[in-house]
Amino acid sequence: MNPPIAATALAPSTPLRQRADYTYKHNHKSGRHGWLRLTPAYSVKVVDELLSAFPGDPVHVLDPFCGTATTALCAASRGHAATTVEINPFLVWLAATKTARYSATTIQATRHACAEALALVKKRGFTPMAEPPIHNIERWWNAPARAFLCRLRPAIEQATAEHSPERSLLLVAFCRTLITLSNAAFNHQSMSFRDDDQAELDLPADLPGLFRDDVSHILTGAMQAPDAETRIIHGDARTLGQIQDRFDLVITSPPYANRMSYIRELRPYMYWLGYLTSGRDAGELDWQAIGGTWGIATSRLTDWQPDGKPFLPKWMAPTLDKIAHADNANGQLLANYIAKYAEDMWHHFAGLAQIMAPGGKVNYIVGNSTFYGTLLPTERLYVDMLAELGFTDIDARAIRKRNSKKELIEFDVSGRWK
Ligand SMILES: C[S@@+](CC[C@H](N)C(=O)[O-])C[C@H]1O[C@@H](n2cnc3c(N)ncnc32)[C@H](O)[C@@H]1O
Repeated sequence: MNPPIAATALAPSTPLRQRADYTYKHNHKSGRHGWLRLTPAYSVKVVDELLSAFPGDPVHVLDPFCGTATTALCAASRGHAATTVEINPFLVWLAATKTARYSATTIQATRHACAEALALVKKRGFTPMAEPPIHNIERWWNAPARAFLCRLRPAIEQATAEHSPERSLLLVAFCRTLITLSNAAFNHQSMSFRDDDQAELDLPADLPGLFRDDVSHILTGAMQAPDAETRIIHGDARTLGQIQDRFDLVITSPPYANRMSYIRELRPYMYWLGYLTSGRDAGELDWQAIGGTWGIATSRLTDWQPDGKPFLPKWMAPTLDKIAHADNANGQLLANYIAKYAEDMWHHFAGLAQIMAPGGKVNYIVGNSTFYGTLLPTERLYVDMLAELGFTDIDARAIRKRNSKKELIEFDVSGRWK
């Protein structure tokens, strides 16, 4: 076993900046990466820099926390075979659609299907779908926007074959349109609402034209085919040992221990596309995900008990104790949250160690967190876990400040399999 890395190696380089180019904001104009604006995505630039730093011929790249498939698409676009794992079925579908190759015939057929769907939307007697059961849906979309979306969604189904690439491409465009029409604001790390008056003013007059533009945007990206294939696994990053392949390079941004719920931000898409049908489903899905605390996931954490004996570095016990006894009614709940997060990540790393090729490299882009004034150095947790498993050359390099709070930092935690 390697000794844990010295504490000084974790000290951030100075001066650190927030660097918008190292966040999802950078991806807006990067072809397929900009199809949907999702704040949990990380920056194409970070992934490209890490890929460039890995010398040699094409390799097999793994992203065990796929999200919107940033790693897989970057890797495949550079000719590397890519495999990616994701627990959320909506993101699995989005990743498959983003990383697929589309023929000129498919692009043309999608244009035709778009015209056909918009003709159906206008047709008298066309039956719209019922509004999806999103809590307070009128807060998200005003009545004309909801009426348009309720016609467009079934019209896309009627104009395309089930599981066809044409349907998938039109549904990504539908996701773009629905978020443009929504009252959602992206001025925070996660989604919030604009005020209602502003939303009324902003609604475009030509709703079919908006969708047509979104389809054109998606098709422009669809024409830029990645050079290599991506394999997308709908699975759990805590059971990676089941995968038969061996990987030379892992580039990923795992869930952070910061109570950010991916389901929260993905709700509008997931309800409209039928991946969610109730708030309970949303909580169930979040409970399956590492770091989820949405709905039922929070109440389950209250009774959560460790499963077996995961490795926990010695410094974790006093940190958990401090958070559990903070001057706040939720202290124990959050201590459970962090302990479960650590256990989940241990299962993840232990499975990862079984599928690394000799000499393979890992890069984890992850931020630290604070709970009631106590710092949780997530990067240090990763460093200690990788060392315990026998990875070598372990390092945690500070890459950016996460916001104006000086202690909140994003790291690249790297290591090499022996
Ligand atoms: C920070 S996001 C990854 C974002 C991604 N790098 C991108 O650019 O879009 C973490 C992802 O891990 C997924 N996830 C959480 N728990 C998981 C698990 N147990 N197995 C696989 N994926 C999981 C979440 O659904 C989320 O999409």
